[in-house]
Amino acid sequence: MVDTLTPVLSAHWDTDRAWTLESYTATGGYAALDTAFAMSQDDVISMVKDSGLRGRGGAGFPTGMKWGFIPQGDGKPHYLVVNADESEPGTCKDVPLMMATPHTLVEGVILTCYAIRANHAFIYVRGEVLHVVRRLQRAVQEAYLAGHLGTDIHGSGFDLEVTVHAGAGAYICGEETALLDSLEGRRGQPRLRPPFPAVAGLYAAPTVINNVESIASVPVILRNGADWFASMGTEKSKGMTLYSLSGHVARPGQLEAPLGTTLRRLLDLAGGVRAGHELKFWTPGGSSTPILTAEHLDVPLDYEGVGAAGSMLGTKALQIFDDTTCVVRAVLRWTEFYKHESCGKCTPCREGTWWLVQTLARLERGRGEERDLEMLLDQCDNILGRSFCALADGAVSPITSSIQYFRQEYVDHFEHGGCPFDPAASTLFAPVGAPA
Ligand SMILES: Cc1cc2nc3c(=O)[nH]c(=O)nc-3n(C[C@H](O)[C@H](O)[C@H](O)COP(=O)(O)O)c2cc1C
Ligand code: SF4
Repeated sequence: MVDTLTPVLSAHWDTDRAWTLESYTATGGYAALDTAFAMSQDDVISMVKDSGLRGRGGAGFPTGMKWGFIPQGDGKPHYLVVNADESEPGTCKDVPLMMATPHTLVEGVILTCYAIRANHAFIYVRGEVLHVVRRLQRAVQEAYLAGHLGTDIHGSGFDLEVTVHAGAGAYICGEETALLDSLEGRRGQPRLRPPFPAVAGLYAAPTVINNVESIASVPVILRNGADWFASMGTEKSKGMTLYSLSGHVARPGQLEAPLGTTLRRLLDLAGGVRAGHELKFWTPGGSSTPILTAEHLDVPLDYEGVGAAGSMLGTKALQIFDDTTCVVRAVLRWTEFYKHESCGKCTPCREGTWWLVQTLARLERGRGEERDLEMLLDQCDNILGRSFCALADGAVSPITSSIQYFRQEYVDHFEHGGCPFDPAASTLFAPVGAPA
């Protein structure tokens, strides 16, 4: 079993003024640029492929393979777009990374652009996090002034411009093609594929879109080698990663550990579930991944292990809920989020998420009956796999999985004529309609 903490991306988070260029350079920052410039672009791509790095934005797609899809010698501009929209409930790793050590991301951007032969990169940041936007802008400015960005970087002949772009705060703009539309100045809605972004992405040119953590992992691969990275993690899920623990946990926060570490181990390191309470349910990768229970404490948290347990690793956002939490209320809250964030492009999601909220709200107030539960599952069935993008599939996940594990709790609501839980006992979800 993998059970050791491996601070790599987070190694210097508590260093004094870790976000400055001076501090980053003192810990070996930007040294990987010269290593890369001494290699061919294709060799950099091969190194990232050999490391086994998989995208940390949710789907776990192999990063080096994605870069390899960019056509070469096509005479078109190529773009890198960093997905820093981080809006999934529970997901809180990219924002701390960009606040603590933004230069890790900037260095990763330069290395990636060199590899895919791109001369312009965009970092698309969630609009609400203005402090992060400012910190990134300052880091990019410092990198320009130090000659790590601009023309003829380190005398290599390679030129790169980086633009930090603030979104307007829509969850759907984290979906990579909606993000591209938003970046181009349009309303952010997912695009039909094909063509895929590697062929026709930003401004119809070949584009790589990667998550912040994926790109920030590239400098350490160049610095320490593909074998070093691949020596961590499990057979098909390599490397270290940032797990985020939140909710009813004694010491919430980010823990960096090899892929495949179990929740039991992470909870031990985080001081356990809050005193006097038991783990009831948890999300392995944010609210759009099916919930798991205390039975799953020893599931290896890698793509394969969580998949085999019936859920998805997603963004490794481990939201912990103890025995005081009403699962129906928690699921209703998430569903309200998806209804609000549905972009409205397709009917099953636009109408379906609205209906899900109506049915769940009736059940939560204890006004439902058995057939409402069946209707809820039927509504889920009509949404799952029938919508344009993964937002709607994600909306259904907490509902179906909570009914799978806690059906009796739904029944208790209508048999009891209301929520059987004491709302004052849970610190997380106030009764719907009550002040938060
Ligand atoms: C509704 C929705 C929201 C998403 N939000 C994000 C996000 O905030 N950040 C992110 O990196 N990926 C997000 N994704 C996944 C992206 O579409 C894409 O897969 C990812 O940015 C690819 O990067 P990676 O290969 O490095 O993981 C979202 C997907 C969906 C369907
Ligand atoms: S599934 Fe929802 S978010 Fe995705 S395109 Fe359809 S309406 Fe928009």
